[in-house]
Parts: sequence; structure tokens; C-alpha cells
Amino acid sequence: MPRIVRPTAHGTPDVLGVVEVPTPHAAADGVVVEVRAAGVNPIDWKLYSGAFHAVDDDHKDAAGLAASMPSIGLECAGVVTEVGADVTGVRIGDEVIVYPVTAAYADYVSAPATAILAKPAGLGWAEAGSLMLTGTTAVHALHAAGVAAGDAVLVHGGSGGVGLMGVQLAAAAGATVIATAAERNHALLRELGATPVVYGPGLAGRVRTAAPHGVSAAVDFAGTDEALQVSLELVADRTRIASITGSPRRAAAGIKLLGYGPGQDAGTEIRSAARGALIDRVESGALRVIVDTTFPLTLAAKAHEVGIAGHAPGKLVLIP
Ligand SMILES: NC(=O)c1ccc[n+]([C@@H]2O[C@H](COP(=O)([O-])OP(=O)(O)OC[C@H]3O[C@@H](n4cnc5c(N)ncnc54)[C@H](OP(=O)(O)O)[C@@H]3O)[C@@H](O)[C@H]2O)c1
Repeated sequence: MPRIVRPTAHGTPDVLGVVEVPTPHAAADGVVVEVRAAGVNPIDWKLYSGAFHAVDDDHKDAAGLAASMPSIGLECAGVVTEVGADVTGVRIGDEVIVYPVTAAYADYVSAPATAILAKPAGLGWAEAGSLMLTGTTAVHALHAAGVAAGDAVLVHGGSGGVGLMGVQLAAAAGATVIATAAERNHALLRELGATPVVYGPGLAGRVRTAAPHGVSAAVDFAGTDEALQVSLELVADRTRIASITGSPRRAAAGIKLLGYGPGQDAGTEIRSAARGALIDRVESGALRVIVDTTFPLTLAAKAHEVGIAGHAPGKLVLIP
């Protein structure tokens, strides 16, 4: 029987269970994809951590699972195994990237045809399965901050999943990029076109040294108080500061908040429209998807422990 990884309760990664489920069927406007790789993202553990308070613990199904627990795994890549009656232009056997989707930590996913895009033949499964969430988020953030040629942009969390995308895309747009990261990730960031600086006390001074003419925009992929404070200190125009991590202080600061919480801009259209261009960039070699570690599906909890620690330089990916 096909497997799926699900949270069985709110909590830490040990609540993740691998259960067997029937193979899904395609809706008339959808497809079924045999998953070859599923990207791991912080949203996955945030969804079952209880941090979002979005689910009701009292609703349990007969199997003892919380019926309203969230599905996890919002992106993947794989091979089409079934095509809905109304879907045109897709065939069984097509290699595809699927985003956005739910419940991608699985052997098979059912997805609307609008969520699938052709996977370039030369792109590895792990890279294909972990390109989209971070890539589209980075595109949205750089757009929101108005980053363009001639800017000097400060990227907080430049060595993370979103950061590595943001650094490359900002550099490709012609911006000067200053990116915060732990020292061990500086060589990688230099390779990708950024000037790296260590985060922590004294950050504003290090950024000033790296960008003597000042920074004109900032994108916050780190979510720390420091990232907010230094952005406010160094960027004159608050509308050119965008954060993908919400907090009351960020909301009060008059910066752009991107995401799915109250008062945040989900950027649905720009993110959806960005998918094709991201694939083109990866296919041409202009954009690298940097995979840190792959894990078998059964070690999803281990992947989440590594992710929660927050210092993997690149993507964590599950391989069913
Ligand atoms: N709103 C949205 O649409 C959206 C979408 C995607 C992600 N997110 C959120 O954005 C955040 C980043 O996501 P991600 O996938 O890029 O995560 P990630 O891959 O885990 O990256 C974490 C980054 O944070 C850096 N970091 C760790 N501790 C730090 C500190 N004290 N100060 C500054 N930087 C620090 C790490 O740098 P080192 O490894 O160099 O230490 C790394 O670059 C998460 O909170 C995620 O939930 C939001």
C-alpha cells in the first residue's frame, strides 16, 4: 500500500507517523503523481507544531488520528500515473514538478492539473522537488521590496532555502547583494554573487562596511529582532523592507509582510506566475537549487529535526 507521512497530534517531529493509505485517484481536472522527491519547508513543522492554532484537537477519527490535523508537504516532483478526464496536454509517464500541493510527503499525490509543470529532463529529482516554495517566495519578496539593477539589497538569512534563491535572483537582476549567514556558509554565498556578513551583534556596522554607499532595500528571511532592527536602521524607505516572517513588531513597523497570516500579502498571482520562469532559469543554469541532505520518507521526523535546528545550507528533501 502507498505510504503517507502525517502528524498524529500537535507537537515536535516525533508526532509524525507513516501510515498506509489507498492510492489516490485523479479528479476530473487533476492528476495523480508518483512522488520521487518532496521538498521540506519550515511551514511543514509549523503546521503541526500548534503554533498556528489552526486545528481542533477534539476532532479525532476512528484510527486515532486527529481528523483535522493538517496535511504536510507543499511541493514535490514525480511521474504522472493517472490523468483526469478533463485534463489535456498531460500524459501518463510525464515527469512533472507539482506546486502548490498538499500532502506531498507520500508515495502518491493527487493534484489539480494547474499545479503541475514539466520537469526539465536534466534536473535532478531532489532539486525539482524543492525548487518551488523557496523560489516563488524569493521572487515575491524581491518584487515587494522593489529590488532591481542598481540597488544594494540586504538579504537576512541568505544561506537558507529562501535566502539562497533570493541571493541568486537579486544578483541576476543586477543588484549588489549583502547577505547574512554563519561564517561556514560565506564561501557559498560569494560563489552565488553576494557579499556575506555574519549576523549577530554589530551587524549594522558590518553591512555599512560591505555597502559603503548604503543599502536601498532589505528582505528578511531570518525573522529575528536583529533582522528587523538592522533593516529599519539601514533602509530609509520602509516600503522597501519585506519580511516573510510575521510578528507583531514587524506589523507595527510599516514594512511589507508577505505570507498567509492576517494583514500579510500572499502574493498568489506573482508566485504562481513565477513558476515557469524559475524552471527556465534552472534549466539554463542561471539558478542553482542547492540541496543539503536527502532523507527517505520514513525519516521525515529526522529531516524536521534538522530543519528546526535552522542551519542547513540548502534544501532538505524526502525521497519516497
Ligand atoms: N511567508 C512566506 O510565504 C514564507 C515562505 C517560505 C518560508 N517562510 C519562512 O521564512 C523562514 C525561512 O525559511 P527557509 O526555508 O529559508 O528556512 P531555512 O532554510 O531553515 O533557513 C534558515 C536561515 O536562517 C538563518 N539563521 C539561523 N539563525 C539565525 C540568526 N540568529 N540570525 C540570522 N539568521 C539566522 C540561517 O543561517 P545559517 O545557516 O547561515 O546560520 C539560514 O539562512 C522560515 O521562518 C519560514 O517559515 C515564509
